[in-house]
Amino acid sequence: MLKKNLLSTIAAIAITVTSVQATNDYDLKTNMQLLNAELSTVRDGFITGDNKTIKEALKKFSENARDLLSNKEHIKSMLPKDVAYKANIAVNASKAIDKNVGIIEEMLNYRNTQSTSRKNKNAQEAFLAIERACFSCHSLVRDYGKK
Ligand code: HEC
Repeated sequence: MLKKNLLSTIAAIAITVTSVQATNDYDLKTNMQLLNAELSTVRDGFITGDNKTIKEALKKFSENARDLLSNKEHIKSMLPKDVAYKANIAVNASKAIDKNVGIIEEMLNYRNTQSTSRKNKNAQEAFLAIERACFSCHSLVRDYGKK
């Protein structure tokens, strides 16, 4: 049930994103909501120990995160004007995300002598580092001084 709701939410967001892009009006909030939904699916995969879900959601998440965050001028044009000068934080977040996505993929595909619990732990730490990249940008760029 929950999974079904989540999938329909993702589908609805995906349709919105497609239509937003079609009008060339790239909407930061909608794209962030999509990243959030994909990252939640990755988390669900960790909680249920479902590597297939992790891999599939992680692939989509990492492509969309890179599209949204890696280009400084692009993100600058989308950020609120008073914080646009902080666009390099997005680029740093993008690098941190790429690095940690790589770690998770390596751990899930790894055929080496590390124990499964060690590999899981490394993958989970990398997942938390991705969340930290989201949180720290929100603290600095989004929610700073908001309330
Ligand atoms: C560039 C810094 C930055 C990074 C990195 C970043 N965000 Fe955001 N995020 C923002 C800003 C700014 C907004 C507000 C956009 C708006 O309201 O127009 C936002 C909005 C959001 C929203 C919408 C919240 C709402 O009010 O509906 C979600 C969800 C979200 N981000 C999740 C994430 C996730 C998940 C990540 C990590 C993968 C992330 N963000 C990374 C800056 C960032």
